[in-house]
Amino acid sequence: MIDYGLQGKVALVTGAGGGIGRAAALVFARSGASVLVSDVNAEGGAETVAMVEAAGGRAAFVRCDVARADEVKAMVAAAVEIFGGLDCAFNNAGINRLGDDEYDDAIWERNMGINLSGVMRCMREEAAVMLPRGGGAIVNTASINGLVGNGAQPAYTAAKHGVIGLARHGALRWAKQGIRVNAVCPGVIETPMTAPLVANPEMKAMIDGMTPLGRFGTAMEIAEAVVWLCSPAASFVTGHAMVVDGGATAF
Ligand SMILES: NC(=O)c1ccc[n+]([C@@H]2O[C@H](COP(=O)([O-])OP(=O)(O)OC[C@H]3O[C@@H](n4cnc5c(N)ncnc54)[C@H](O)[C@@H]3O)[C@@H](O)[C@H]2O)c1
Repeated sequence: MIDYGLQGKVALVTGAGGGIGRAAALVFARSGASVLVSDVNAEGGAETVAMVEAAGGRAAFVRCDVARADEVKAMVAAAVEIFGGLDCAFNNAGINRLGDDEYDDAIWERNMGINLSGVMRCMREEAAVMLPRGGGAIVNTASINGLVGNGAQPAYTAAKHGVIGLARHGALRWAKQGIRVNAVCPGVIETPMTAPLVANPEMKAMIDGMTPLGRFGTAMEIAEAVVWLCSPAASFVTGHAMVVDGGATAF
């Protein structure tokens, strides 16, 4: 397993109560970083902290709903208070409810509030802490739905396109001040979010068939890309939307 060389660094992960965020917390910790585990789900967050500690890492949990500006500000302040600073941030919290009518105003607003505005709020507060320290690295979770259309989900598609836009914006805005900002674009990954797809044999076969590598990805396969993007090995990478999708968008 690769150590991405983050000894003495502090990493913050939103949506770390399960799935991709939990996997990223484990890889950050494996690479030497102290990890501020954050999620709206306190039970899942506590489990992630226990998993990091069981593996010999250092972590603390702070509950935060990324749709709330005050909670995002408090989450970033907690990273500084508990671990003394902030070097890496993975803005990963998100929702995707299959079957929702995203043209409904309330559903649209909720989707945007978490999937797009939540990422903006995190970037704003993280950069405010990173700038006086001379830099840092931020990764936002987009999706292949940030690169190609999805006929069923207008809000999710627009939000994920926006998340890539925010990463490119941040890369330009803070390049001279040492903050790199990138996005990761997962294909279909086996996590609690996609459990209904995995449980449905027809859907699972369809998705396996749409993916050149012939399967769902794992949360760890996304986490490895994310922590690499945050590491010194990616020091010349900024403004990039990294696709990790088993070839699904290679057609
Ligand atoms: N699983 C996939 O196939 C896939 C594909 C592309 C992109 N993504 C994206 O990856 C990210 C992680 O998804 P996952 O698959 O690990 O799903 P998941 O449901 O396992 O994890 C998402 C986490 O975000 C948390 N969360 C939800 N709303 C929140 C809020 N308002 N504030 C803070 N935390 C909140 C949840 O409690 C959960 O722990 C999401 O942004 C998702 O859109 C997932």
